[in-house]
Amino acid sequence: MTALESPVEIKSNSGKLGVLMPGLGAVSTTFIAGALAIKAGASSPIGSFTQMGTIRLGKRNENREVSVNDFVPLAKVDDLVFGGWDIFEDDCYEAAIKAGVLDKELLDQIKPELSSIKPMKAVFDKNFVKKLDGTYIKSVKGHRNSIEALRQDIREFKKTNNLDRAVMIWCGSTEVYQDPSDPIYNSLDKFEEALDSDSPLIAPSVLYAYSAIMEGVSYANGAPNLSVDFPALYELSIREKIPIAGKDFKTGQTLMKTILAPGFKARRIGIDGWFSTNILGNRDGEVLDDPESFKTKEVSKLGVLEQILEPEKYPELYGDLYHKVRINYYPPRGDNKEGWDNIDIKGWLGYPMQIKVDFLCRDSILAAPIVLDLALFLDLAQRAGMYGIQEWLSFYFKSPMCKPDLYPIHDLFSQKAKLENTLRHLMGETIITHLGLDYYYEEE
Ligand SMILES: NC(=O)c1ccc[n+]([C@@H]2O[C@H](COP(=O)([O-])OP(=O)(O)OC[C@H]3O[C@@H](n4cnc5c(N)ncnc54)[C@H](O)[C@@H]3O)[C@@H](O)[C@H]2O)c1
Repeated sequence: MTALESPVEIKSNSGKLGVLMPGLGAVSTTFIAGALAIKAGASSPIGSFTQMGTIRLGKRNENREVSVNDFVPLAKVDDLVFGGWDIFEDDCYEAAIKAGVLDKELLDQIKPELSSIKPMKAVFDKNFVKKLDGTYIKSVKGHRNSIEALRQDIREFKKTNNLDRAVMIWCGSTEVYQDPSDPIYNSLDKFEEALDSDSPLIAPSVLYAYSAIMEGVSYANGAPNLSVDFPALYELSIREKIPIAGKDFKTGQTLMKTILAPGFKARRIGIDGWFSTNILGNRDGEVLDDPESFKTKEVSKLGVLEQILEPEKYPELYGDLYHKVRINYYPPRGDNKEGWDNIDIKGWLGYPMQIKVDFLCRDSILAAPIVLDLALFLDLAQRAGMYGIQEWLSFYFKSPMCKPDLYPIHDLFSQKAKLENTLRHLMGETIITHLGLDYYYEEE
């Protein structure tokens, strides 16, 4: 692989872009309904960097600050076409009503479009999502047949909607924990053999990811399950020249962690304990009530502090950190989660202090703009000839994927700098390092 020369030649953004989502639940219907409301001028895209962000170009005294949308040739929200799969037959209007995130009044304004988006039958295996009993499932048997059926769905969706381009974003339930060190994940050859022999280790989300890549559709994983995050599929994405990204949308409590922890670390404030607990009552909460699905989420959530704080480098500050994460299913709250954090910090001479965060959060409201940005940036990446893991999109993920010989960057502000510099590089603008040494010297 050769490094991309700046500026990069980017193919045209004209025409429609398909956004395919396995899982038409709370997050995806909130995203679709939001995008339709924005199209109709009934709402605004708060939380979306692609729609509301600006980016500084050149030196500060040049006063060049442009909107992201004007700077890079992204697909327009008006040009998005939505589709997906679910294990329940509800159309997007019914699913959005059941998810209970958005007001019925808003949903009714866009009811005809929402109702017209009906799921395709899912590839599902209850062994991977123990709490759900799907009723709208493909009858094909075996991994290869499931892949062929999904590929057929993708081709059909593109043909019916007259699309040249599509992206896929996993918005399905969190699957039970899979050990990524199992040999079937290590190389494409071993993985293909496991597909041929219908290995019971291969989860449905992996079959969707494989199908997307083989159909030339870039893929992002919004959940913490493996899906596309293992060497065999990295290899496939490079071979097929398809961008992939993941994993687990960075919303709620982990978003707060990746904002707060880098601040403590920067000021060398010690942390002895970080206890995080949540109550939530949506379908995601119900799925996470199963210990095996929770384990997948727990691994994704726990890695964050370890990586940001580097206790091995700073044993005195973070060596004894006790980090605990709990999620409790509590139906009365629906999608309106509450997350509490108790942070035991220590300052000068080891004196202890405490910080309490009580985040009355709406998970899907925070996740929906991430789906939009990922769809637009993945499409941009593909048109710019970028492929394999898109680490510059780490900004959006709790467990950022990166090359196996690197460690992930969790700090939200480092992630943002990387994202912005990637856009500058694509467009042939100077990378901003914030060095500004010339400020201290008079010009000759
Ligand atoms: N809401 C957030 O802020 C947030 C943040 C990070 C990650 N996530 C992850 O995003 C995913 C979606 O979250 P949600 O709140 O929309 O959950 P949800 O339960 O409302 O929606 C998930 C949907 O996926 C469907 N599904 C399950 N297995 C499927 C399969 N094999 N094929 C097709 N559909 C399938 C379910 O029927 C359900 O409708 C979850 O994995 C969740 O952990 C959500």
